[in-house]
Amino acid sequence: MHFVFHIDATDGAARTGAITMPRGTIRTPAFMPVGTAATVKAMYPGQVRDLGADVVLGNTYHLMLRPGPERMARLGGLHHFMNWPHPILTDSGGFQVMSLSALRKLDEQGVTFRSHVDGSTHHMSPERSIEIQGLLGSDIQMQLDECVRLPADHATIERAMHLSLRWAERCRVAFGEQPGKAMFGIVQGGDVPALRVESARALTDLDLKGYAIGGLAVGEPQAVMLAMIETVEPYLPANKPRYLMGVGTPDDLLCSVARGIDMFDCVMPTRAGRHGLAYTRHGRINLRNARHAEDTRPLDEASACPAARDYSRAYLHHLVRSDEILGMMLLTWNNLSYYQDLMAGMRRAIAEGRLAAFSEETRAAWARAEA
Ligand code: GUN
Repeated sequence: MHFVFHIDATDGAARTGAITMPRGTIRTPAFMPVGTAATVKAMYPGQVRDLGADVVLGNTYHLMLRPGPERMARLGGLHHFMNWPHPILTDSGGFQVMSLSALRKLDEQGVTFRSHVDGSTHHMSPERSIEIQGLLGSDIQMQLDECVRLPADHATIERAMHLSLRWAERCRVAFGEQPGKAMFGIVQGGDVPALRVESARALTDLDLKGYAIGGLAVGEPQAVMLAMIETVEPYLPANKPRYLMGVGTPDDLLCSVARGIDMFDCVMPTRAGRHGLAYTRHGRINLRNARHAEDTRPLDEASACPAARDYSRAYLHHLVRSDEILGMMLLTWNNLSYYQDLMAGMRRAIAEGRLAAFSEETRAAWARAEA
């Protein structure tokens, strides 16, 4: 079985469809919960699946440091290791090296860095990143790239974009032909439209199976991010999946799907859940706040998720204030449920040609926040 993307319906620039591959089908637009260290933190894999997630994201950087790619391969690969038999997308490592490791140095050959775990020195080339993602058993692998934080000067953005293009070619060669799997390129170019277009065009010439837009949600306003998506979208092949990396808030998802994005990942629902924040139909609720101390209402009585429906805000407030593990578990569960429901709602709305109305209704409900 091959990696195939098909589109069932469009609504303006938005599309809904599916990626089919040997390990399963990814309904798009899709939100991928982040499972950095072979776990979607505070969740059982079966729960993640039951919420409607078709794919989770793993991180090359974390898994190469611990437990190590060769060990992971000996243990049967990441799917078996974490008991997630469905598709897995892995990020390539460059982005995490830049944000997490110490003493990182980047040159044409790759990136050298000190582990944030034990201080040991590591080198990762584009070829080694693809080799590691292969040892993990990843279904959708990402090219090694350099992501520049914004604001940055033109020369820095341009140099990083060109380096990322050269690394894309090397990753493509290293990946070779793997019919049931895919390697995606990553468009870079910061907030400079001409560089974004150059990146998208050159990557399209490589005829990859999918395209990510990277280097966004890295310090720029939402309007700049959306403008960059609009700049790039016409240059990406319409028949390939488009993945916006590391994004975002529920509003970011609504705005980006309307501009033609098919896939997302973000730590927001899981990380926020561990910090006492709940995403709901009524907007974002900070359970730490004293005003919830005697609120007997659940987060959302109409939700199908037990975490949203079966526990009072007063109880969640108590758990969060007491640093109880169950507080993190329930809020993560609620948040991923909300994100997956939002994606399912957008998929239905696109199929019915009413994405704009759906987005308006969704935003109006946030604004009516009674919490
Ligand atoms: N995650 C969020 N943004 C990026 C990016 O630009 N590159 C990679 N590899 N991962 C990301």
